[in-house]
Amino acid sequence: MKPSDFVRQDRLWDRLMSMAQLGATNKGGVNRQALTEEDGRARRLLADWAQARGFDVYQDAIGNLFVRRPGTDDNLPPVTTGSHLDTQPTGGRFDGVYGVLAGFEVLEALEDGGIQTPHPVEVVAWTNEEGARFAPTAMGSGVYVGKLPLQSALETVDVEGVTVADALSAVTAMTPEAEERPLRSPVAAYIEAHIEQGPVLVTAGETIGSVTSIQSQNCYQIEIYGEEAHAGTTPRVNRSDAVLAAVEAIAHLEETARDEADAMRFTVGRFIAQPGSPNTVPSHVTFTIDLRHPENAEIDRMAREIETVIPACAERRRCRAEVICTSAVPVTPFAENIVDMVDRARLDLGLPGRKMPSGAGHDAMYIAPMAPSGMIFVPCVAGISHNEAEDALPEDLAAGARVLADCLAELATG
Ligand code: GLV
Ligand code: MN
Ligand code: MN
Repeated sequence: MKPSDFVRQDRLWDRLMSMAQLGATNKGGVNRQALTEEDGRARRLLADWAQARGFDVYQDAIGNLFVRRPGTDDNLPPVTTGSHLDTQPTGGRFDGVYGVLAGFEVLEALEDGGIQTPHPVEVVAWTNEEGARFAPTAMGSGVYVGKLPLQSALETVDVEGVTVADALSAVTAMTPEAEERPLRSPVAAYIEAHIEQGPVLVTAGETIGSVTSIQSQNCYQIEIYGEEAHAGTTPRVNRSDAVLAAVEAIAHLEETARDEADAMRFTVGRFIAQPGSPNTVPSHVTFTIDLRHPENAEIDRMAREIETVIPACAERRRCRAEVICTSAVPVTPFAENIVDMVDRARLDLGLPGRKMPSGAGHDAMYIAPMAPSGMIFVPCVAGISHNEAEDALPEDLAAGARVLADCLAELATG
């Protein structure tokens, strides 16, 4: 029998639905933002399940949580899988958590099948992949591989002024049994399972995507400083209106970002104006830009536009701008042998699918330069994600876990 034969669709689904209760919203989605009480409870639940199966848990300095099934040669580096447990504020039941629980299902399948592997197999829940509460995205994996400095991550604050350091110590205290894991511990290979979050597989009626690459992504936080003034008495020439400077810059940049192929993704997802009084000219705006493209050169071109257009628009409105690039990740190509292995594994299981790039970012983008990496996509209903309506079919989720099981077992044996 193959490792995939021991994957159980009902067990995976039940665990997904248990996790979906932690931070459940009344529209059927999940709000379990990074390092909140709900995130802590999700980590606790994963650690409880690990304990029940006799797996050890580990935690590193940024709170990445690892569950380990030992190998027959425990000195070998682990073959690792996983994703994230945090969600968007209006997130769904599958983004991230599926990759963690598909990985956990594989550990259980190996255990149920009595399948020994020379390499240990580990599942990791990376801290703060979403970057919704604390910037940047994929903070845990970025710190793990040394791309983001630990100290600056710990000092990051949310909109309420809470630091990552404070939120992290409350959450990691909920899994006190977790042994310490040093950052940058070696990984033999990494495969992340995830819902596609787009329409390609579902439209084609296919079940498995073997991900070839992740597109380039730059994230920015922009501060525009003007001056407060009375809305009724202050003539135009005396205003330093931070909102007008910001909206002019955004409109200009969105125009510049338009391309015939519709490949550039330009998003202003947060826009906060202060002091937020209807009859005071706004003195301060904070907004974010999320910029993505399949080609590094195009991101670089837009990055130069951002650096020049925003200060120019601010100056025209007698304001001052700060443009802070919070993360810049070039295109991530995945290892050919892993991409081929995933595609072969799904063919061996008789599952329809294809090789395809990822439009969304994932923790795998930080792990790929450190270890041979790849990803498995499964369809989500109507391609909807980052939305409380996000949905996926139990049989597709189980199919992804089966492909994952066969690939991880092969890697952990080889
Ligand atoms: C991950 O959630 C992303 O924004 O791509
Ligand atoms: Mn995700
Ligand atoms: Mn996401």
